Amino acid sequence: MVKSVSTVPEEILDEQRAFMKRVYDINMTACQQSGSSPYAFVHSYGCQQNVADAEHIKGMLAEMGYRMTDEIGQADVVIYNTCAVRENAEDRVFGNVGALKNQKRRNPSMIIGLCGCMMQQEHIAQRIKKSFPFVDLVFGTHALHAFPELLYEALTSGHRVFETTGSDGVIAEGLPTKRDGHIKAWVPIMYGCDNFCTYCIVPYVRGRERSRSSEAILKEVKELINEGFKEITLLGQNVNSYGSKEDEISFAELLRRIAAIDGDFRVRFMTSHPKDATKELIDTIAACDKICSHIHLPVQSGSNRILKQMNRRYTAEDYLDIIRYAKEKIPGVTFTSDIMVGFPSETYEDFKQTLALVKQVEYDALFTFLYSKRVGTKAAAMEDLTTDAEKSRWFRELLEVQGEIGRKRNASYVGQTLRVLADGKGRSGEGFLTGRSESNTIVDFEADDSLIGQFVHVKITEARNAALSGVLV
Ligand code: 5AD
Ligand code: SF4
Repeated sequence: MVKSVSTVPEEILDEQRAFMKRVYDINMTACQQSGSSPYAFVHSYGCQQNVADAEHIKGMLAEMGYRMTDEIGQADVVIYNTCAVRENAEDRVFGNVGALKNQKRRNPSMIIGLCGCMMQQEHIAQRIKKSFPFVDLVFGTHALHAFPELLYEALTSGHRVFETTGSDGVIAEGLPTKRDGHIKAWVPIMYGCDNFCTYCIVPYVRGRERSRSSEAILKEVKELINEGFKEITLLGQNVNSYGSKEDEISFAELLRRIAAIDGDFRVRFMTSHPKDATKELIDTIAACDKICSHIHLPVQSGSNRILKQMNRRYTAEDYLDIIRYAKEKIPGVTFTSDIMVGFPSETYEDFKQTLALVKQVEYDALFTFLYSKRVGTKAAAMEDLTTDAEKSRWFRELLEVQGEIGRKRNASYVGQTLRVLADGKGRSGEGFLTGRSESNTIVDFEADDSLIGQFVHVKITEARNAALSGVLV
């Protein structure tokens, strides 16, 4: 097969390293005069891919001499990494950006930057240009690796910087990274999406599907494990089609190679597209202890008519087949899913098929969304006669049904001993820790802080709505 990956060439990355050095020098000169180093505030909206991108932004900022702060008022650079997947995420960004006007008035030298999926849409970039004159820097997802140059320009040119050029997308290896924690790490294995589900903006803002080399991924995972990370989550819009355009190993093989690395760690992955979830993948999860026996498999709808209109390319029967196979092969397997309510032309009959599927699968948890019209997608042009009030009613019905299932699933853990990765202080008060089980359920238990970052066994004594509690064994 033809190699189609377009990797950012080393010369371009070198140029960006030179810009990092220039910004660093500017900051160090200022620091000598003022006696304090500059601060950056970075906030990410939306999915884990955005969180992973923000870790690169923070890594680059750190190399440029910035310290991170949680207080916007203290920041010299503010970056919002935005999400375009639903309108309410965009509204939140606009609200929060609006609130920065006062910060800028107090500190006129503050650089305000917006990046991420929203900025890759022309109508949004135009709105920022017109209505938010205090925003200094706007760049889309395809310009992430050029952030040092863009920041340098924003700092020195005296004009606003907009870089939102479209692209099929690239892969930039070796960008600096400043990870948010020391226990769990995100590792993107592919970028972009070619599926064009009719409701979804992602293929337009993140470009064509492209996979990193397995060599680069394995190297990164090995380094993370050597550094002591205990959970690796592999990220992609459709991890099951990893490497399908490139001359690469399959996703199942990638998982096997990661699971074969020495060390005490576990692996998760998201998101799987049901159309590409293979029996080989299920067999791999069954065969490798280090791969969590939890599959996030977004179904979106249980109605074949709606699935077709969504261009999902599987039927409810195909989906249930793979669920059945996984339940058969992987002891204790758990599932989570994304469900969309109110897709154009969805009727109550369609929705009832979704409810039936949800009851049949018995998910541990669901991520539920009301359909949100996205400019430029196919679904945006579809006729929609259902009222918002009806959609909200169905949505509440779905939450009730899943609430019941979730409670039942959680209650079934009582008496079981689960392997939990302790990841921080618990909410039950001093002396309690919290962690996640293999199914990614929150588990609280009494234990010493020294166990944070360790795998422990917890006997579940109580099930609450969204969490479990238990005692250390
Ligand atoms: N409206 C509502 N939900 C959406 N998602 C993606 N696009 C939209 C949209 N336009 C949901 C899907 C997807 C999840 C990440 O976000 O359920 O799986
Ligand atoms: Fe969007 Fe579908 Fe691609 Fe997921 S697979 S990012 S829902 S187009």
